[in-house]
Amino acid sequence: MDMSELEFSKALELLRCPKCHGGLDINSVGTLLICKKDPSHRFPIVEGIPSFVKREEISPEDSKWVFEYDEMAERYDEAIKEYDSWLGVNLHEEFRKVIERIPIKSSQHVLDVSTGTGALLILIKEVYPTVDLKLVGVDLSMGMLRVAQRKLRNAGIGALLLHAQVKELPFKDESFDVIIHSGGINTFSDIPATLKEWVRVLKPEGTLLIADEGLSPCARKTQRGLQIVRENKLFGLHPPLEHLPPQLKNVELRWVARDTFYTITCQKLSREELKQLKTEGTEHILIKEMVENMLKKLRTNER
Ligand SMILES: C[S@@+](CC[C@H](N)C(=O)[O-])C[C@H]1O[C@@H](n2cnc3c(N)ncnc32)[C@H](O)[C@@H]1O
Ligand SMILES: [Zn+2]
Repeated sequence: MDMSELEFSKALELLRCPKCHGGLDINSVGTLLICKKDPSHRFPIVEGIPSFVKREEISPEDSKWVFEYDEMAERYDEAIKEYDSWLGVNLHEEFRKVIERIPIKSSQHVLDVSTGTGALLILIKEVYPTVDLKLVGVDLSMGMLRVAQRKLRNAGIGALLLHAQVKELPFKDESFDVIIHSGGINTFSDIPATLKEWVRVLKPEGTLLIADEGLSPCARKTQRGLQIVRENKLFGLHPPLEHLPPQLKNVELRWVARDTFYTITCQKLSREELKQLKTEGTEHILIKEMVENMLKKLRTNER
């Protein structure tokens, strides 16, 4: 299911204009989303995928990556399999285990940010085949989204796909129960703003999962680890713990795929805790302390 087949009224409930935060309407022929607050804000629906960002609005840093992903979209799934033999892992199975740990209930809204060719959306449906999930995927590469659209259709999985930037999502506040992300955050141009935006669209008590390349402190010290980083610098990067916004709690950091990918899972504070955070700022101190301790431990382990 994409925007052309979706029950529009339901999808529109989630969406808001990324420019002025007004609600959106669809035109009678289903080719445009039009802002209710300022009708000059118009977003084309291109072959079922609403596009919320123009090329010139993308930073040069992000453009470079989008260009690469557009170029390699059709080959991406094959290319990523090369990681498996190189690292001696089965990433699909590793991510399946990660997804299995997310508490998923029926009727939940799940957002996959930087969905690429839709791997996590398909995986989540494989893991929870009978659960009624509202799946949404966002990416900045139309090439990758086209491949995701085809794969999801072939698998009979209904999902709303959108062309948008990770740091300017076209959703109302508190729209999603679960947000998942794999394989992009390491190279995003503004990680603090991006995480802030994800937390904005996450519901109170909602779950956030982030996974990307980055060796564990132990793996960094081994010959194998040193070789991996020499061949691909992304594996030398660290989990972006220090950028986690204060509205999060229960942060868990793990490594999967033979210590080559980090995963961060956490929850957004409850409504009550969020209120307290606004008035007292106490939770902010809690997450700061927790993250500082985690970082201290990481640095000690790396020595
Ligand atoms: C390595 S791929 C990962 C795709 C998918 N999540 C997976 O695990 O296979 C990274 C994706 O991030 C997307 N991306 C990069 N920068 C982005 C941005 N600023 N906003 C949205 N998506 C972005 C790319 O287009 C690409 O599809
Ligand atoms: Zn608007």
